[in-house]
Amino acid sequence: MDPVRTRYLEAMGITPWVARTATPDQRRDWQELRQSVAGCVLCPLHEGRTQTVFGVGSESADWMVIGEAPGAEEDRLGEPFVGRAGQLLDEMLKALGQSRETAFIANILKCRPPNNRDPQPEEAACCAPYLERQIEMVAPRIILAVGRIAAQNLLSTDSPIGRMRGRVFHYGARRVPVVVTYHPAYLLRRPSEKGKVWRDLLFAANLVAGSSR
Ligand code: URA
Repeated sequence: MDPVRTRYLEAMGITPWVARTATPDQRRDWQELRQSVAGCVLCPLHEGRTQTVFGVGSESADWMVIGEAPGAEEDRLGEPFVGRAGQLLDEMLKALGQSRETAFIANILKCRPPNNRDPQPEEAACCAPYLERQIEMVAPRIILAVGRIAAQNLLSTDSPIGRMRGRVFHYGARRVPVVVTYHPAYLLRRPSEKGKVWRDLLFAANLVAGSSR
């Protein structure tokens, strides 16, 4: 990045976004993970899928968003959060100065559960190593868990979402900070809750601003 621009941004208190370039080993690791997910038959969900939904975005993202599982549209297109909830998620990312290109978006499950039912514990357990590896490889500065199912599975807890909002959790050996907020699909049903999500996003953005890589 242009050093003058970097100095201006830093003077304004903005940490410039700089893409980390992948090494050949990292590129190979991603390719292997993509192949393992695409061919996964560890749980019965593979029988009903059109395709797996690996995740989308920057492999060196600062922000990682984790949702629940693909729905019908995501199963058809192979990309997470492509429906109306996805549009709202895009707006949430925009408010953070992010996008689906700069962040990395993934789900607890890589395959669509039938009739969009909640993931079962055995399905989540089969899929967990894939998400763990994604988090390890992206090495984000923050994880935003959207919705109760994502938060409970990621953090191995059965706490209600209301008790998880407004707190910082940590994920894995690198202790990546995790902030929990409502799922955009819930916001579509309850637009009056948007203010709470806005506060959660600010809370998360402040954490990132106060942390260093
Ligand atoms: N909801 C999710 O949690 N994930 C998606 O990919 C789509 C909808």
